[in-house]
Amino acid sequence: MRKPLIAGNWKMNTDSQSAAALARSISDQSPGYGAVDLLVCPPYCYLKTVSAVLAGGTVLLGAQDMFHEANGAFTGEISAAMLKDCGATHVILGHSERRHILGETDQAVNKKTLAAHQAGLIPIVCVGELLSEREAGQTAQVIRRQFDGSLAGLSAELMAATVIAYEPVWAIGTGKVATPQQAEEVHADLRKLIAERYNAATADRVRILYGGSVKPDNAAELLGQSDVDGALVGGASLKADDFLAIAAAGTLLAGDDVTRPQNA
Ligand code: 13P
Repeated sequence: MRKPLIAGNWKMNTDSQSAAALARSISDQSPGYGAVDLLVCPPYCYLKTVSAVLAGGTVLLGAQDMFHEANGAFTGEISAAMLKDCGATHVILGHSERRHILGETDQAVNKKTLAAHQAGLIPIVCVGELLSEREAGQTAQVIRRQFDGSLAGLSAELMAATVIAYEPVWAIGTGKVATPQQAEEVHADLRKLIAERYNAATADRVRILYGGSVKPDNAAELLGQSDVDGALVGGASLKADDFLAIAAAGTLLAGDDVTRPQNA
């Protein structure tokens, strides 16, 4: 069974004090949530602060983006090795805000994904359709195109170690959550696609998170779907109690019958 991952994407929020306090609160309470992996993704500039707070505990640290080059004249960018140096083990890539506000392409996300793996960071690669695409019946097509573009060139082993996040764009920050059935349909299709491109064993190992208006009151139903292996939480991850209530829904569903994926 895949161990659920509950990830908090803090986006461009918090300051040094509130980031440390939020991390402290989550870390202090984390021993009760051993059946799930907990991950927080603060802004770059607070990674080291949060890393120091999380030291010695089990809460994992991730970044929200990176550049694919290792170093050099790339003003304003940050590399996978730099993130690792700040204590990160994970990195969110291809978030819809980067795709749609900052113009990031599948090709750019793919370069970043390969570079993250090469540096030993676990990428959380986001895919998701716009409302207009869903209404036009193009959801499966869009997700498949993003998958093939963003995740090209990975070995089966690296694919298995990759986390995918399905985040329908119309559900992000809108309070309009996908129904558990809508989420499961896309997650199951993604897993089928991994089996087609690789094999069933690889598909079985990949954790696929749902993101988009996940809250304490809808988490249990979403996480209860057989192909939903966790959540990528935005707004609700900024309050420790809400984030942990979502984690609690994952903990209940996971029970004790979970194993950590090999490279996580
Ligand atoms: P919200 O949970 O605020 O809808 O954000 C979801 C998200 O974008 C997580 O990456």
